[in-house]
This record gives sequence, C-alpha cells and structure tokens, in this order.
Amino acid sequence: MVLKDKRILLGVCGGIAVYKSTMLARAMIKAGALVQVVMTDAATKFVGPLTFEALTERACLTDENLFHTGGGVSHVEVARNADLIVIAPATATTIARLAGGFADNMLSASVLASKAPILLVPAMHTAMWESVPVQRNLTLLNPQQYRILPPAAGDLASGDVGPGRFPEVEDIFDAVCAVASPQDLAGWRIAVTAGPTREPMDPVRFISNPSTGKMGIEIARAAQIRGAVVDLVLGPTHLNPPSELATGSMNVRKVLTTKDMLDSTKAALAGADALIMAAAPSDDRPAQVHEHKLHKADLPKTLQMEANPDILKTLRPDFDKKVIVGFAAETTSVVESGQQKLVDKGLDLLFANPVDNGQGFGAAANQGYLLSKDGALVVVESQSKFDVANLILDQVLKIGKRK
Ligand SMILES: Cc1cc2nc3c(=O)[nH]c(=O)nc-3n(C[C@H](O)[C@H](O)[C@H](O)COP(=O)(O)O)c2cc1C
Repeated sequence: MVLKDKRILLGVCGGIAVYKSTMLARAMIKAGALVQVVMTDAATKFVGPLTFEALTERACLTDENLFHTGGGVSHVEVARNADLIVIAPATATTIARLAGGFADNMLSASVLASKAPILLVPAMHTAMWESVPVQRNLTLLNPQQYRILPPAAGDLASGDVGPGRFPEVEDIFDAVCAVASPQDLAGWRIAVTAGPTREPMDPVRFISNPSTGKMGIEIARAAQIRGAVVDLVLGPTHLNPPSELATGSMNVRKVLTTKDMLDSTKAALAGADALIMAAAPSDDRPAQVHEHKLHKADLPKTLQMEANPDILKTLRPDFDKKVIVGFAAETTSVVESGQQKLVDKGLDLLFANPVDNGQGFGAAANQGYLLSKDGALVVVESQSKFDVANLILDQVLKIGKRK
C-alpha cells in the first residue's frame, strides 16, 4: 500500500545482479508504484533497456538521454519527478561518482539533481566491497538523504563466498517500503509471536497444528517497515521470517515448544511497547517424553496429556502499560468466542478469524473481526495478511497513544 502511486526512479548500474533488478522493478510496479528506470551505459551491456521498458511500460532512460533534453527527459526533470530513488545494483564506480559529485551520466546527473530519499543497494565482489576507496566513498554520501542497504553474504558470481551479494529482491522491496513509509512506529518496540509449537512425544513424533506463522510474520514485516524494532518469537515453520537486513531492526527468536515460546516471549516483552500474539501454541503436551524412538509395537494407544502454561495468563502481570493483542482462530461462534477471550485474557484488541473453508492457516489472505476492549467491532473483509497486519498496527498505534 505504501508504494501506491509513488514515483520511483530505479537506477540500474553495470553489475552482474542487473537481471535481478528486473524483478525488483516488477515487484514495485505490482505494488502500484510508477517506476522510471535509468540505466548506466555499463548496465545496458548486461540487460537491454527493452526488458525494463516492457516491465515498466515506459521508456528506459540511458546515457543517450543526457544530451537530448527534449520531451521532459532532462536529468533535472527526471530528478523533479522522483519521490524516491533506488539504485540497485549500485556499482563501485557509480558510488564513486555520487561521492565525488560527478554528473557525467544520466543516472548520476539525475541523482545529484534530486533531494528525494535514496536507497543505495551496493553489490560487488567482497574484495571490492571491503576496499578502502569504496568504504570511504560510502561515508561521503549524505546520511540524511541516503540509506545504504548492506549487501548480503554468500555465494558470489566469481565463485567466492563473502559479503557483496545483491540482497534478496523481497528484502530490497521491504527496504524500499521502509524508505517510502512515514515511519509512524519509529520509537516503538513490538514483540510478535507466530507459528505453531511442537510438543514431542519421542524424538520423531510430536503434537502440533497447521499454523504456518504467515499472519505473525506479516505483522512483524509490516511493523518493521513502519519503523518499529521487532522481536519475532517464531515456532517451527517452512516460511522464512522477515530478513534482518531490510531495516536492521528485526530480531528473530526461534522456538519449538509452548514452554520455549513462553520463555522467549517473556524476554521479548520486557522492553516492548506492544505484544501481538498471532502464534498457535499447543495447549497440551504429551505427559511423557521418551528419550528414544518408540517402536511401533510400543506405541501407546491412548496418549496421556498435560496442560502447557497459558502464555497470556502467565505474562499478564507483565502487561503494565503495553498494548496487548490476541488472536482467536475459531470454527464456530467466531465473534462470541473472540469477545470472551478478549475479556478473559485482559487484552486490548483481538482478531477473531474463522479457520474453516480453507481460510486462516497458511492462506495468503485473511478475514475476520477486530474486537476492541471498548466494545468496538470492525469487520475485516478478505485481504492479504500484510494488509490485515497494517490494520491491526493502526489500532495498536491508536491504543498506544491513549495508554
Ligand atoms: C561481468 C562483469 C561483472 C561485473 N560486476 C560488477 C559488480 O557486481 N559490481 C561492481 O561494482 N562492478 C561490477 N563490474 C564492473 C562494472 O561493470 C564497471 O566498474 C563499470 O564501469 C560500472 O559502471 P557504472 O557504475 O556506470 O554502471 C562488472 C564487470 C563485468 C565485466
């Protein structure tokens, strides 16, 4: 939502990662942004401007445009028309140009003529990245205008391994959203729980549920984009948590059992302004955990269970002035059960959602009812979990201001 109608200048330089920035252009367009691509001469040797033109449905500007100022494509015009600039990949040469104030190609001239915020995404071989001139040049860029997304570490095109890799497109996309966002959660620390728990019976068997953690992961992502420092307590899932790279303010604590989740949530809650509990911790656990795998013939026909601690109830004395949000996944009497849970657990807000008919667990979209302590009920129509996350965070912000 934050990129809708944003005019983004995407600067593309001559690095091996150029092909990946085509996917970044596509993701930003899909999110509603108006993307103007400016390629350096070197970049056009890796991927043709036509590819970006087809993706953005507008002419891709190259160095040829620098000395052809007709038709509103002068570098000053391009600069004026950008709400936000993303340079991805940013090469060592372009970083040097910008640090030195050289306006000798279309990209650097446009960037130097703009006061818009800039996300710089350097990508290069580790030795280049760590070299004294590159590191010195980065310090010369105005920190009020530039946000530098550090490169990822990993396999490089050269076959070497180390820092310098172009980050995952999803992480760059989130960093772009953060630069475009009004940062209304800056100064907030938000603890989020997500995912199922596993309660082992022996080393190869456990009790669990179908939660994937998608809803909580999207809440953590949205909070991070809006400027919060996030502690995500995450149960076992195949989904990747939001990257710590995108904003540098995501701490992920991976847990297995409900008891682990309780301990980690207690630790995360200590410095938090809000706790959003989107996890589905197991209420009970097998009373006996066998050290070795049980053979088929030894499997009990009836499983003795014992109660896990109730995380919300246990942490209630620590709630203090924090905003506490719960979730209720229901198959019957969704609103009534949600209202009961809201009162019983002393919550400020609760999202009650039906989890039958293929909704809820693992789905990309969610729908339900947002219930508040003051009795308000908001019907949330089916929408992406990221959008639902933002609706919840809007309410958290409002309640937090009153507390
Ligand atoms: C195959 C190949 C891959 C390259 N990859 C990178 C790279 O990942 N990062 C980088 O800074 N330079 C890389 N270079 C060097 C740049 O292309 C070169 O410095 C060029 O002058 C950059 O110009 P520009 O900043 O105007 O795009 C690469 C060169 C070649 C031939």
